[in-house]
Amino acid sequence: MRKKFLPVLIILCLALACSAHAGLKDLNYQSSLPPIVVQGAMKSETDFLISSLEEPVEYKIGSWTYTAGKIDGYPVIISLTRMGVGNAAVATAFAIEAFNPVAVINQGTAGGHDPEIHRGDIVLAQRTYDIGAWVSEPRAKGKGVDFKDVKFNGPFFYDRNLSSGDIYLYSDKNLLKIIEGMNNHSFKGRIFKGTMASSNTWESRVDRILFFHEKFGSSAEDMESHSVADICEDYGVPFLGFRILSNSAVTQEAYNPATGLDCQKFVLDFLHEYIKTLSK
Ligand code: 5AD
Repeated sequence: MRKKFLPVLIILCLALACSAHAGLKDLNYQSSLPPIVVQGAMKSETDFLISSLEEPVEYKIGSWTYTAGKIDGYPVIISLTRMGVGNAAVATAFAIEAFNPVAVINQGTAGGHDPEIHRGDIVLAQRTYDIGAWVSEPRAKGKGVDFKDVKFNGPFFYDRNLSSGDIYLYSDKNLLKIIEGMNNHSFKGRIFKGTMASSNTWESRVDRILFFHEKFGSSAEDMESHSVADICEDYGVPFLGFRILSNSAVTQEAYNPATGLDCQKFVLDFLHEYIKTLSK
């Protein structure tokens, strides 16, 4: 009986071992230069960048995929973070631990908050905040809900004493300078410098969007930027966020995922410029 089941058991164990997710310790990434990590939450935000890599090699940590390769001979890693603040935070921490990057670039699509900014425009996230980090004033049963009656929390720093009360985190000034100074890019839309509001929500109610825009200056919303900025801040790794608007409830422009490709092309233009400034 036992003998009969032994081969089955061996096959089962082998199958399990092959399908198991790699851990940080199993990763064998080697690079003499610290890579640039570029993130996107969805395939439609990373596909083109992955296809632009020289000598691509795919790594997996848990269920997060990192494709390492080169651009202009410099190491670049394209990270598929998956959607949402939790996924993006984990993908960032793993990327920093595993690859020791020189910078983390978070890009993709976003929804508009600023009536002046339209679908197809790009927002450089000079700063980010957590649109879901608030405490509401008490309201008794039946008294209704006022979405404006809230007090915003800043980032959840691991050491509370580090909190200055500022609710924003900031993109690295040097990286912002490089991207703002680009005049040789292929992007045809408009480029704004602004504020990115992040949470796991997709807001479609214009009054609430305008409340955030007017009170906190948000230009657009997404589900990742701020949590990535938060982890980068913890590790002291330079962060840059920028997003193309794929939709805007304020300007009544519906979601168009194809905008993700235009943002990736702009990322590539940026990488060419950024890599020129890095020593090889
Ligand atoms: N609200 C929130 N996230 C948005 N995204 C695009 N538009 C919006 C929006 N209006 C981005 C998020 C997430 C995916 C749904 O696309 O960052 O990854």
